[in-house]
Amino acid sequence: MLEKLLSSYIFESFQIPVWTLLLATICLIWMWNSGRKNENSSEKVEDQKSTELPITNENVIELHANSRQKITKKRKIKIFFGTQTGNAKMLADNLCREATERGHEAEVLDLKTYDPEDNLVTEGENGVWVVLFISTYTDGTPPEGSEWFCKWLEESSTDFRIPKALLKELHYAVFGLGNSLYTENYNAVGKKVDRFFRELSAKPILPVGLGDENVAESLKGGMEKDFTAWKKEFWKKSKKVKDNDTVVTDTCGTGKKTCDGKCKCKEDGGKCSSEEEEEEEEGEDLYETTTEEEDNAEELLNEDGDGSSLQTTNGVVDLEDLGKVMQTMKKAKVRRKKEESAQSTGEPREMVTPMLKKALEKQGYRLIGSHSGVKLCRWTKSMLRGRGGCYKHAFYGIESHRCMETTPSLACANKCVFCWRHHTNPVGTEWRWKMDDANTVFQGALDNHVGLIKQFKGVPGVKAERFAEGLEPQHCALSLVGEPIMYPEINKFIELLHGKGISSFLVTNAQFPDAISNLVPVTQLYVSIDASTKESLRKIDRPLFKDFWERFIDSLKALSAKRQRTVYRLTLVKA
Ligand SMILES: Cc1cc2nc3c(=O)[nH]c(=O)nc-3n(C[C@H](O)[C@H](O)[C@H](O)COP(=O)(O)O)c2cc1C
Ligand code: SF4
Repeated sequence: MLEKLLSSYIFESFQIPVWTLLLATICLIWMWNSGRKNENSSEKVEDQKSTELPITNENVIELHANSRQKITKKRKIKIFFGTQTGNAKMLADNLCREATERGHEAEVLDLKTYDPEDNLVTEGENGVWVVLFISTYTDGTPPEGSEWFCKWLEESSTDFRIPKALLKELHYAVFGLGNSLYTENYNAVGKKVDRFFRELSAKPILPVGLGDENVAESLKGGMEKDFTAWKKEFWKKSKKVKDNDTVVTDTCGTGKKTCDGKCKCKEDGGKCSSEEEEEEEEGEDLYETTTEEEDNAEELLNEDGDGSSLQTTNGVVDLEDLGKVMQTMKKAKVRRKKEESAQSTGEPREMVTPMLKKALEKQGYRLIGSHSGVKLCRWTKSMLRGRGGCYKHAFYGIESHRCMETTPSLACANKCVFCWRHHTNPVGTEWRWKMDDANTVFQGALDNHVGLIKQFKGVPGVKAERFAEGLEPQHCALSLVGEPIMYPEINKFIELLHGKGISSFLVTNAQFPDAISNLVPVTQLYVSIDASTKESLRKIDRPLFKDFWERFIDSLKALSAKRQRTVYRLTLVKA
């Protein structure tokens, strides 16, 4: 019916036969279809091109930002950690995650559960790479559970019956965790382990990395930054490791070994592999060259740096020595330039690093600025619920639900064995960090404390009246963690508290006698007495100061000279 209508209409209007129209439509459909087929087949050719690359299951392709392709060998990587408080494990996990994302087969292992005697030699033979994260503890000792690994390495490297080439097949990398405030034993374990590996002929993927918790002194600005820089270098260097199976490809696509600068990557605005090589060399100063070595190197060279003052016993300059000296000099210059530029900006670093911030927030701290914190005390929570308060309630009638626990300095100068801050907090012997002013710390502490109290609204058992009172704190316990009197504006902070009618209870750890003398009167001043002899104080508080005992005695003297309420707070530790 429709056909009839259509044909009569078209025929009558344009005098065109219906079959001509049908033929034209079929032609159009055919042309459109064949166009699509061509598109698909050209996609297939592209696919074929990429699969034609010499890729085996062993390899992974890394696509670079400018679409150049490199083939890197997929590795088996065992990432070990030796830790006391978890930092080394955290870094090991981080590297493992990244290794997996890059297509490597990686696993994290605790040194506690690993026997090097049975396994380490075979790791090398099986082409497994070993990466080790290890911290240093009191007097330069390894963390708990890592002693056997370190002992075995040391003994093997010094035992004349064990071949010096024992680990010659093994590729390894070491990252030490430490704190440069322990000057004599700074990263002692990481450095030693690296040396033992080398003495047993293991092949370093890159020089030992030294992570420094001391943000003020650290080369890159703290443990995480040191690690990030080392990790970047690790991936760069790992691409350069060549063994029999490594696939080496021409990154320029020109087929030439050296690039003439006219290659595709240049046209695309990318970089030639030759340029990348240069960039990679920049990272060299991340590693250990001691200042002493650098100074010696400088002494060996004259002012012009041409080495003409370098003499050997027979008066001939050894070119190899000169090369080494020049290299060390170069590192010294880079280091100095960096130090100078850091100093010239005049910007001290922040005390709390992002990693630490995360760890503290997980423990329930609210951080204020870059060095202060508040946390709700368990007695505050208890009293909000109408239950009992802390000893200050029993002794002095202080209501725990109206008490704010805070610290203007998360850092202190000890590493007390009983400290509940899990040794994650910063340490220092003087204030060398960026400082937030007293107003910021004061207002931040109040706001955050009130914020924490508000979380108890409607919680079963919380008394409405106590909740309302809790929103207006009347007491401040400066005893959270860290050393409050390290904060340069502590006096102003206390005045701000008193100005708001908030009483102050300050606990100091007896290592800063001058600060005690200079402190404005507080409501109650406490000194922690953690031990009764020099030796036991050294063991219990693990102080950073060498003259910790003199400081302790002087602090007690300074306390007795104060004309105010003072308290000796005895810390009892279960043996
Ligand atoms: C009691 C104690 C002693 C320490 N002694 C040293 C030391 O002698 N040398 C050093 O470089 N770091 C020392 N440190 C710093 C630790 O190595 C650093 O905190 C590291 O991040 C800990 O890593 P971990 O959590 O993996 O054990 C010490 C830390 C503590 C708590
Ligand atoms: S002084 Fe206080 S904050 Fe510092 S380690 Fe000792 S208990 Fe912890």
